[in-house]
Amino acid sequence: VFVVGRFPISLLPLVRCTKDAGVLSVPGQEAEALLVEGRARCATCGAEFTIRAGILDMLGEGKVADAESAHEHDMRDIEAPTSRGAPGVPSSVVDELEIASTMRHLGEVTGRTVLELGCGAGVYTRLLALSHARVLAVDFSWAHLQLSAQQAIYPQRVGLVRADVATLKLAPEAFDVALTTLYSNLPSRDLRLALNRLVHSALRPGGKYLVSAHHQDLRRRLRGAPARGHYSGSGIFFESLTADDLARELSDDFPTVHTVPAAICLPLVTRFLRDPIQRWAERLPGFNQLGAILLADARKG
Ligand SMILES: C[S@@+](CC[C@H](N)C(=O)[O-])C[C@H]1O[C@@H](n2cnc3c(N)ncnc32)[C@H](O)[C@@H]1O
Ligand SMILES: [Zn+2]
Repeated sequence: VFVVGRFPISLLPLVRCTKDAGVLSVPGQEAEALLVEGRARCATCGAEFTIRAGILDMLGEGKVADAESAHEHDMRDIEAPTSRGAPGVPSSVVDELEIASTMRHLGEVTGRTVLELGCGAGVYTRLLALSHARVLAVDFSWAHLQLSAQQAIYPQRVGLVRADVATLKLAPEAFDVALTTLYSNLPSRDLRLALNRLVHSALRPGGKYLVSAHHQDLRRRLRGAPARGHYSGSGIFFESLTADDLARELSDDFPTVHTVPAAICLPLVTRFLRDPIQRWAERLPGFNQLGAILLADARKG
């Protein structure tokens, strides 16, 4: 059975026109409608954005401006069927550690409105929906969003949006929590800082921004691995960050930032003991320098 997604009109007020930040609406639709097809129209400039297969498409035929990002956009579409969260793709031990740590650091999301940036095939989107959050899940890869739509749970609480975060516009102070897993794929510090400003304005006061980034961890530093590089094969750009780099980038907008290395891969830890050992290792200086990812918990003042 081919299952298409459905976009809940109730989540449309969270997104704004990419041209002038105008308010969007789908004329003639009830507030509770779930749309497979439709057109969202900007109240200010009249620009139209289509909903296809239940996905709100803010990018359309528009080009991704940054060359590295444009390459990533093309490669992500090609790689989608084999990426994490796609049907039948098993997750690795490191994936499982990362996902468990990230969900734990996100904290309680029941009833919260969550912005998810770089949702891919929906690993976190589904966990957030299961935890009774309302989720606006954004990615620029149509193929990934389709895989997410096909596996959707609680469609009334999840809105899938295709957009480049460099041009995405959001309603001010509309979200309680934001999660990004695309941070260290953004090809420049300027794009990362612009993303932080976007998230800051979209969060309500006191809102939480959890950034998951590649960690320039101890193993990488000892090997002399460069922080900036491209994945072998796809050539997608990444930049591994140190805790200080990441905290500094966030501190322009967010008064409190806590960073913690996570997904600490220790050999010979049985599945049964993995979670308690992770919690302990995350707090141990030295050990935690081995974390494959870095999580930053930033709060809006
Ligand atoms: C590292 S993957 C994470 C995917 C998923 N959240 C997971 O954990 O399995 C990053 C995702 O961000 C998306 N992405 C990267 N740059 C983007 C941009 N500028 N705008 C929108 N999405 C972007 C990619 O298509 C990719 O799906
Ligand atoms: Zn507009």
